[in-house]
Amino acid sequence: MDFKKPQLINLPKIPDERGNLSFIEENKHIPFKIARTYWIYDVPGGEHRGGHAFKETEELIVALSGSFDVVLHNGKDEICFSLNRSYNGIYVLKMIWRKLENFSTNSLALIVASTVYLESDYIRDFETFKKGLL
Ligand code: TYD
Repeated sequence: MDFKKPQLINLPKIPDERGNLSFIEENKHIPFKIARTYWIYDVPGGEHRGGHAFKETEELIVALSGSFDVVLHNGKDEICFSLNRSYNGIYVLKMIWRKLENFSTNSLALIVASTVYLESDYIRDFETFKKGLL
């Protein structure tokens, strides 16, 4: 797996007559060690999340339930991934601007991150983000 650009990751899916099971292993399905997981839920219709980049944090974003769009920007091009399967994740490198939008009712976003929470790792201004890429 080439983890040099943002991409859709196909996670394992173990189906049997009792239902499906999926999982994420650090340094295998994602190229980092997991320091934190958090989840986003009860997002009101029309709301978006994110609108920032991280200086160091890498993430995997999974739609455990429902659907939403992950919109990524590398300072030049924008790419949009629609997530609606709990065995898919979007791998987001550091220094990628990201926004989550179009949340369906009852959607649940799980995010696995390579760092603990640190506000100073955020770039919340798009122009500052673009300058940081130079
Ligand atoms: P933020 O990352 O800005 O939310 P989103 O990108 O989903 O729009 O975080 C919202 C608030 O929650 C902000 O005050 C920081 C806090 N927070 C933590 O305390 N720990 C965490 O792990 C995260 C992701 C956020």
